[in-house]
Amino acid sequence: MRNKIQYCRIDTTWTDQLTSFFERIHTNSQDKYFHPHPFDQKKAQELCCYTGFDLYYVQTIETKICGYGMLRGWDQGYKIPSLGIIIHSDYRGRGLGKKFMKFLHEQAGKKGAKKIRLKVYPENLSAVNLYKKLEYSFLGKEEGQLLAFVEL
Ligand SMILES: CC(C)(COP(=O)(O)OP(=O)(O)OC[C@H]1O[C@@H](n2cnc3c(N)ncnc32)[C@H](O)[C@@H]1OP(=O)(O)O)[C@@H](O)C(=O)NCCC(=O)NCCS
Repeated sequence: MRNKIQYCRIDTTWTDQLTSFFERIHTNSQDKYFHPHPFDQKKAQELCCYTGFDLYYVQTIETKICGYGMLRGWDQGYKIPSLGIIIHSDYRGRGLGKKFMKFLHEQAGKKGAKKIRLKVYPENLSAVNLYKKLEYSFLGKEEGQLLAFVEL
């Protein structure tokens, strides 16, 4: 990938692009395996104005959003944040998911996290493979999803 990849904490400058990104996820039913919150205009606007402890990022190429990722749980008082990530379907299979995960791991470490957790449907093989590659340990199930942790 020769184009410049950047990571930006979501703020109001992203409202329009994030809304389009979310609406596309929803219309293409890509939220089948990833539904941490609704993917609609209301949620995009809310995240763009969000100012708490949790972290919400976009991954961009040439200022276009190619991915969205989150680390949340701090607001609720948890020490181990939950990670969530989605890459735009046009940009998958190019290593962007792996890069974004590594970036999110770094950000969690900077905030003092020692571990990260996530949930993934067992049939979501691309995500399961990605997490295995990043040395996540799968330690049980919650609401039909595998529960995985990685030490930072
Ligand atoms: C899971 C997801 C984030 C992967 O993003 P990506 O940018 O395509 O992943 P990468 O190109 O960085 O691939 C990294 C590794 O993931 C695995 N992987 C990615 N796509 C895969 C596929 N179609 N089939 C099997 N494994 C796959 C591979 O292990 C790959 O490593 P390799 O290229 O060395 O073989 C992306 O498919 C996605 O956004 N899915 C929809 C949302 C989602 O399911 N999020 C996770 C919810 S728990």
